[in-house]
Amino acid sequence: MRVLEVASEATPFAKTGGLADVAGALPAALGRLGCDVTLVIPAYREAFAKGLSLEPTGIEFEVPIGTRRSAARILRCRRPESPATVLLVANDDYYDRPSLYGGAEDFPDNAERYIFFSRAAIELACRLEKPFDILHCHDWQTGLVPAYQKLLFADTPAVANARTVMTIHNMAYQGLFWHWDMLLTGLHWRHFNWQQMEFYNQLNLLKTGIVFADAVSTVSPTYAREIQQGPGGCGLEGLLASRADVLTGIVNGIDTQAWDPGSDPHIPRPYGESDFEQGKYAARVALAARLGHAAPDSRPLVAFVGRLVNQKGVELVIELLGRMAGGGRAHFVILGTGSPPYEDALRRVAAAFPGTIDLVLGFDEGLAHLVQAAADVTLVPSLFEPCGLTQLYALRYGSIPLVRATGGLVDTVVDTDPDTLRDGTASGFVFQGFDALALEHALVRALDAHADRELWRGLVRRGMRQDWSWDSSAREYLRLFERTCAVPPARVD
Ligand code: ADP
Ligand code: GLC
Repeated sequence: MRVLEVASEATPFAKTGGLADVAGALPAALGRLGCDVTLVIPAYREAFAKGLSLEPTGIEFEVPIGTRRSAARILRCRRPESPATVLLVANDDYYDRPSLYGGAEDFPDNAERYIFFSRAAIELACRLEKPFDILHCHDWQTGLVPAYQKLLFADTPAVANARTVMTIHNMAYQGLFWHWDMLLTGLHWRHFNWQQMEFYNQLNLLKTGIVFADAVSTVSPTYAREIQQGPGGCGLEGLLASRADVLTGIVNGIDTQAWDPGSDPHIPRPYGESDFEQGKYAARVALAARLGHAAPDSRPLVAFVGRLVNQKGVELVIELLGRMAGGGRAHFVILGTGSPPYEDALRRVAAAFPGTIDLVLGFDEGLAHLVQAAADVTLVPSLFEPCGLTQLYALRYGSIPLVRATGGLVDTVVDTDPDTLRDGTASGFVFQGFDALALEHALVRALDAHADRELWRGLVRRGMRQDWSWDSSAREYLRLFERTCAVPPARVD
């Protein structure tokens, strides 16, 4: 099976969130199952700064963008640890910028940047030696690929027989742009209708992908159900329900090499199940030093690592800190970056409790690993969460996830109660309602459990033993690809 993975970010090249982790690891996992995989991503400035060897391929072509043409130069990166080929689309006007999508405001030309990228990906597929069976697209940035394949490349042998799979990582980001950006796509205005590319007078790139793809997937079974209704579907619930026959939920795996407490270069002392207490203590000492403390304090360490946006339940964390930090039962570490009002509110609450709350505003991959290694409890109180990787990293690093019952968090964390302790399925703490009191109650339960050393050790060890590696998720993707290839492509007029 030849698979082209198309994504707007992938580790180790460029990352803003979990999509990069998935796009970075899935190609290698599919490769291990015998697929011949090529990953294509934009060649951002960040990718050049990583010290990876990016070689020219000699493939260069022009991509039509409205009435103009923009040049795409294709680079290749060989990575000994991955069997997948990685190709990067370089165009410095679009991608040589200080961030991937913009800062507090998105870049004003993001429509053009990703229309170009989607068109370049499919043009590139046409220039490679063998045809692909599957074009696997991730999120709105690649939503035009299925439309291009069906509408503009239906007679191009290299891609005409491929099936397209659109994977949704987050319904909250749909790539909505003003209608005149339709001109940049090169597609006929007749597709700008409410059943295809239009959403209330705007161009919607994720919707386009969902409409034109042969199969649609999202990153957990619970989220696959949630998005077929409001509010989870963010306005596209009707469309998603109409595609229920081809909509699957596959929980993400984690890269167990990059996230391995037994060999992680970001932590001071590697550890496993048998010596996690020593390993985590060493991580706490290192974290305390990094945060400017003379020594770690002895209270349980409660962590939050994530984007500071409304999806992640940041307001609950802020309220929780205000309510609990004075009580002295735990030490808190917050690592995140995002919306300025959340950053300001966190700064204020952290300043009020200097010995109890450590706040790091920024994106720091190594520190994220160290925090997970040091933490006893990792908070993921999301309003919604398509899959979530943070709770899976927490489990592997022996930090107990405390999550809200939504999306992929439901599919990956089992609440601790007498029954789940007895049958050995307990793996974390789960609360239902989106409010700070419910979060606080769950944290109090977790801290009470932490005080029972034997119970806690059992929880930690079982969590560390769980297998969230890509192997089984990649097998599910492969089955999805095989199913999709077995039926004729969806017809589009
Ligand atoms: P999302 O993709 O919605 O942000 P996930 O839980 O799927 O959520 O993935 C988040 C990823 O981004 C994880 O790898 C997490 O460690 C990382 N991450 C988020 N914020 C930061 C940060 N400030 N510094 C370092 N890593 C971060
Ligand atoms: C999105 C989601 C997150 C998911 C990630 C990778 O960013 O918000 O829940 O884990 O994509 O699929």
